[in-house]
Amino acid sequence: MSRKRALITGITGQDGSYLAELLASEGYEVHGIVRRIALEDPDHRLRRIQPLLDQITLHVASLESYASLHTAVEEVQPDECYHLAAQSFVTYAFDDEFSTLNANINGTHYLLSAVKRLVPKCRFYFAGSSEMFGAAEESPQRETTRFRPRSAYGISKVAGFDLTRNYRDAYGLWASSGILFNHESPRRGYEFVTRKITSGVAKIVLGKESQLRLGNLRAQRDWGHAKEYVHAMHLILQQERPDDYVIATGTCHTVEEFVAAAFASVNLDWRDYVISDASLYRPAELHPLRGDASKAERELGWRAKTDFDQLVKEMIQADLSGQRLRQAAS
Ligand code: GDD
Repeated sequence: MSRKRALITGITGQDGSYLAELLASEGYEVHGIVRRIALEDPDHRLRRIQPLLDQITLHVASLESYASLHTAVEEVQPDECYHLAAQSFVTYAFDDEFSTLNANINGTHYLLSAVKRLVPKCRFYFAGSSEMFGAAEESPQRETTRFRPRSAYGISKVAGFDLTRNYRDAYGLWASSGILFNHESPRRGYEFVTRKITSGVAKIVLGKESQLRLGNLRAQRDWGHAKEYVHAMHLILQQERPDDYVIATGTCHTVEEFVAAAFASVNLDWRDYVISDASLYRPAELHPLRGDASKAERELGWRAKTDFDQLVKEMIQADLSGQRLRQAAS
């Protein structure tokens, strides 16, 4: 039997890189879509997939260009398409709502349209987000909870989710969404709060920084491990029929708890180093988000395994090793 072909948008990101590794290890022929700029700065932009480059094929395309996505889908003829690419940092979405909405909504629409036209039997995964719940009316949030997004990013994800569902219902496309709550790892971008904290702690331990400036410490999130969450994406596309699933740990923590655990793991008291800066607060904060992933457990056999303390420790250890290597090289 020939190898299954997967096409991943957002392959250079945290989730894309873990997913590419998983699919390659499962024997898939893995293709990824990257922006031209990534090929011009491979050391930086392809760093997460560097070890995989001889096992995957990259195609240049942009979420802003239907023609480029059409060409990539036509070249690859995927059996499974994982649409992870997005402008995904919520703060930027407040700063530039127009480009977030344009890239995230049109990009999803272009890709769905190209898949429907060129490979109608392809299974399609859309990366939904807990941000879609926003000011949710119930907790924990599940697949049936009403979406009340509170940012342009959340709105763009609701639109992508609805487009995906509509291609399934109206055109019979095998299209599913994962509604993923926050998921972190040593590969998380530095702009997100968990990595900002763990990299900041590592710099403080090594004497490179003396304080860590954060926004709202009372914000709460349901944080899991990204490596486990990409398994859920794969499982979602292996089901008998397309459907939507919440993927979460079911446990909520404040930013302050993350900070405290991170500093405690290196025997420091966070109160000596952390400043909560009101200028870093978001214009609209979410209600505490906590996901109910019981449908995923029942139907996919998936549940989160890494607990909060393990996640914090793994990220701290990775940042300490990384910073030490950088220090030794300089
Ligand atoms: N980034 C950041 N920086 N966030 C801070 C800071 C800070 O200095 N201080 C407090 N926070 C709070 C934010 O206000 C927010 O409530 C929370 O920390 C988490 O922020 P992020 O880590 O930036 O993630 P997010 O929850 O907005 O979004 C992430 O998770 C979503 C759900 O999976 C992103 O990965 C989204 O793309 C994703 O959809």
